[in-house]
Amino acid sequence: MSVVSASVVSKICIIATPEALEKAQVWADFFKCPVNPANSADFFFHFHVEDGRVYVRDQEKRLLEIDFDKNHLDYERKGHRGKNELIAKALGVAKGYRKVLDLSVGLAVDSVFLTQLGFEVMGVERSPVLYALLKEAFARTEKDYLKSYQLYFADSLQFLKENKGKLAVDAIYFDPMYPHKKKSALPKQEMVVFRDLVGHDEDASEVLKEALTWPVQRVVVKRPMHAEELLPGVRHSYEGKVVRYDTYVVG
Ligand SMILES: C[S@@+](CC[C@H](N)C(=O)[O-])C[C@H]1O[C@@H](n2cnc3c(N)ncnc32)[C@H](O)[C@@H]1O
Repeated sequence: MSVVSASVVSKICIIATPEALEKAQVWADFFKCPVNPANSADFFFHFHVEDGRVYVRDQEKRLLEIDFDKNHLDYERKGHRGKNELIAKALGVAKGYRKVLDLSVGLAVDSVFLTQLGFEVMGVERSPVLYALLKEAFARTEKDYLKSYQLYFADSLQFLKENKGKLAVDAIYFDPMYPHKKKSALPKQEMVVFRDLVGHDEDASEVLKEALTWPVQRVVVKRPMHAEELLPGVRHSYEGKVVRYDTYVVG
């Protein structure tokens, strides 16, 4: 577990309704944190487990919830341009590349969009709280195309080292946090909780270095439009208004 993850779970407790106590205990064992403690007000994050719903609130009552069947975070993108979407082009849709490993699932907005676009996606997330929210969201969704999503709880650097050559993947996708990013697609309260949970991803260039050793066709890094390249060697940038997709061609 990364330093960020370790410090976050020491600040979390679970708040569960009586009918959800069994599920709450599973996550309590995962986080190694208490359920409904008497001193719950002392904990910075409350991970709420209710019948049919999980979500996080911070001490200011700001909410973070992942629910793929609500469109709160733009999970159902209507009117998208299919193969002409920049992200699809960057990942090599025209060359028939379909299997993608997402090294930074986060709220899975990109992963879900890629799945919607017809990619087969598997993803890695290292934040235990994000992982728990994602796991629950994938288990509950009614969208059939998300049912087979494979989600891993791991640090991508470690994951890449341990799984090189073992997974059939055409392309790798990476969207680390960008420290100076002022604008975000997320609503403000979600952004605050999200940032507090995941930190800054200062090891991003190490992860990219390792990804570039994988036997894949492409590695794609999402960057804010005017940010520097995460590593030199970008073959092509697919530029949008706010973000761009830097493509590295491996081998
Ligand atoms: C900017 S967010 C990604 C947002 C995501 N693309 C989406 O559409 O919701 C970065 C996420 O990647 C995760 N992350 C960053 N570096 C990672 C690593 N080395 N291993 C696993 N997860 C990582 C962070 O915990 C955070 O949740």
